[in-house]
Amino acid sequence: MSNGYGGASTADTDDVVELILADHREFEQLFRRLRNREEDRAAVLATLADLLVAHAEAEEAEVYPALQRKAPEEAEEIEHGTEEHSEGHEALLELLQADADDDEEFEEKLEELVEALNHHVDEEERDILNAARENVADDERAKLGRAFLEARNRLLEGTPGDVRNVGRLVAEARERGEI
Ligand SMILES: [Fe+2]
Ligand SMILES: [Fe+2]
Repeated sequence: MSNGYGGASTADTDDVVELILADHREFEQLFRRLRNREEDRAAVLATLADLLVAHAEAEEAEVYPALQRKAPEEAEEIEHGTEEHSEGHEALLELLQADADDDEEFEEKLEELVEALNHHVDEEERDILNAARENVADDERAKLGRAFLEARNRLLEGTPGDVRNVGRLVAEARERGEI
């Protein structure tokens, strides 16, 4: 059943690669809406923030470790992906803290987030997901897809994109020296 978030929530597949791609396309839709001054930007941003955080956390919990076990030579790409999640969270935090009534400030922070995310999504699709297609059998990808979706949807029952939670994730990443 759909939880109102779109992307992988409504995708008709168990394949982890397809589910992750569906979320990536959903991020792009939400970015497009956020560029529109006529939109309810606060509401769209809240949806995007929840989805970004739930997606990244579920990848790190259920997908990245399994891919690394399957293909140890991918370790560096996967570690890099984790660092980029933290950079994305940092840019998201700045946008969440921007003055929502100041269009210029909002749009400047939005473009910084779009840039960070596009860069990450590009690399993830090219380096991590293509390797997963090669190294992981169909039934394993379906198993991983179900685990990814379950972790993601469990997080989406709360508000993982809440400014306090994103602030906590950024502080933890800084403590680890990732950003
Ligand atoms: Fe992703
Ligand atoms: Fe990612």
